[in-house]
Parts: sequence; structure tokens; C-alpha cells
Amino acid sequence: MLIMNRVTKLLKIQYPIIQGAMQEVATADLAASVSNGGGLGIIAAGGKTAEEVREQIKKAQSITDKPFGVNLMLMAKNVPEIVKVIIDEHVPVVTTGAGTPKNYMPDLKAAGIKVIPVIPNVKIAKKMEEMGADAVIAEGMEGGGHIGDTTSIVLWPQIADAINIPLIAAGGIADGRGVVNAFVSGAEGVQCGTIFSIAKESPVGDNWRNAVISANDTSTVVVGKTIRDASRAIKNSMTDHLAELEDRKVSRDEFNDAMNSGLQKAVSQDDASDGVIFSGEVAGLISSSKSAAEIVTDLVSNANKILDNLPKAVTN
Ligand SMILES: Cc1cc2nc3c(=O)[nH]c(=O)nc-3n(C[C@H](O)[C@H](O)[C@H](O)COP(=O)(O)O)c2cc1C
Repeated sequence: MLIMNRVTKLLKIQYPIIQGAMQEVATADLAASVSNGGGLGIIAAGGKTAEEVREQIKKAQSITDKPFGVNLMLMAKNVPEIVKVIIDEHVPVVTTGAGTPKNYMPDLKAAGIKVIPVIPNVKIAKKMEEMGADAVIAEGMEGGGHIGDTTSIVLWPQIADAINIPLIAAGGIADGRGVVNAFVSGAEGVQCGTIFSIAKESPVGDNWRNAVISANDTSTVVVGKTIRDASRAIKNSMTDHLAELEDRKVSRDEFNDAMNSGLQKAVSQDDASDGVIFSGEVAGLISSSKSAAEIVTDLVSNANKILDNLPKAVTN
């Protein structure tokens, strides 16, 4: 059922399944493995120098000849240098988060790069369409990492009604049911983060993996909302500390620095209590770590099974 559509044609991929950018986690190995599995892998540029991004791109190109993308965290100061690297290295797709890609859109488009902003609401989706975005990724507040205010189930259909470019749905998808929900809501592709964070090719350690696998429906918490930096992670002593910083009304930069170093600690030291494990509420649905390619094919085949059985489920 999920075969060729506008998203697979736009991105030149087999399945409309995208691995969301994940700062510190979405490395060349993970992204290239997702692309080899028929989806679109994304390298996260957040927290990296332009030269580190170039190395990651070259590494991914050595693992796959399939398309993959790079995500720009627009809050970062070195975005102009990273954009140059992306253009130099002929990366075909860029996703953007945490700001407007306006200043970079002309150069990226002139280089033939597909630009797909991650957006949290209808107003910004429309703005991105007017600005020339090729598609948007609408992410509900169930998702892991930086989030907006609206839940996926009400966000996706409202975005689908408001724009003509393709909608890619994100936030809360980790199995075939989530994929079908997204398509029923008007999406033509899905982006998943949390489930790929514990793929076999992900750099996270056993403590991170176990934290996701043992999570239930209420294991995550949102911190930073009152300082315009709302982010979802698995509740632990580090998210308690971030909540204290927020209560003390530290600046957004100070909060963000603490969160980013916590994320780095969670990945590089596998510290699951004093590190930040960005994860979505969907962690409660995830019970094992699989290879990236297996995640992609399971999402597609389970969605197809559900669609095949839907008439029976509705009439019985
Ligand atoms: C560990 C982690 C790090 C993330 N870092 C980024 C990032 O650097 N840039 C970005 O645009 N989104 C980031 N996200 C969001 C994901 O790309 C994706 O949109 C989100 O995880 C989807 O929701 P889900 O977690 O319910 O699958 C991150 C998510 C996670 C879990």
C-alpha cells in the first residue's frame, strides 16, 4: 500500500519513512543504515562544527549510495558554514528546526536541495510553503526533543488542510498503527525519532537503550516550556535539575547549554540519570532494539497489514 507517493518521489526513496535528526545520536552510521533500508536517514548537525558535519557526510557517503539528509538546528551560530558544507558535498535533502530557514533558502534551493522544515503549527506551515519549502514535517508535542504545543492527532489533519505541499507526520510514531494514523490524517510520509534512537546502529549505550525499552506511557517529561525551549526527555535527576533551572528563570541560552551538555553526557558516557535522554511519549510502546533497516521494513509491513485488515476491523 505504502509505495510511490509525492514524498518517495521528492526524496527518491523506496518507503516514505524518515529517521528524524537527533543531536548527538543521528550519526553517519545510523543515517546511512536507514537509507540503505529504503527510508531517508538524516545526520544531525546540531552541536557539531562545519568540519565535523563534512566528515559525517563523507562517512555516510562511504556507507550508502542512497540519498540521505542533514538537519540544521537554526539556533546554532555556525549555520552559514554548515550550509556551505552541505552544498559543497551535494547533500540532496535538508531538514530544519528551531527557527526560520529564510536566510538559507535561496542558496539551498539554487543548489537543487530539497528543504523540509520541521514545524509545530498551521501558521508556520503556511509560511514555510510560501517561502518555497518542498514539504513540511509537522511534529506533535508527544515527540522527543524540542517540541511545540499541539498534539499530533489534532495537528496533522489541520496542517494537511492548510497546505498543498506534502505533509510528513512526526511525534508519537513507532509502529504500523502510528504510520496508518498519520496517513489517515493526510500525511504522505512519517518521521520517527525515539524508535531510531535505540536502533542497533545508534551510538547510544545500554543504559539509554534500557531507559527507552523500560519506559511506560508516563515516563517522559517536558522541561523548558516557560523559557521557549520546551523539550521532552525521560524523567530522571537531570530533568529535575533542568526544571529547577527553569524555575530560577535562567536565560534560554544557559538552559539550552545545560540541556545540550546533558544530552552529550547521556550519549558519550551512557549516563542515564545525570544525562538528558530525549525521548517521546511513544517510548512506552518500544520493547526492543532492532537494526535501522528492520525498523523501516517493520513500520511499512505492519502498516500494510493493518490497512489490509481494516475493512474487517470496521465491520466486525
Ligand atoms: C534523542 C533525540 C534528539 C533529537 N534531536 C533533534 C535535532 O537535533 N533536530 C531536530 O530537528 N529534531 C530533533 N529531535 C526530534 C526528532 O527528529 C523527531 O522529530 C521526533 O523524535 C519525532 O517524535 P518521536 O520521538 O515520537 O518519534 C530529536 C529527538 C530525539 C529523540
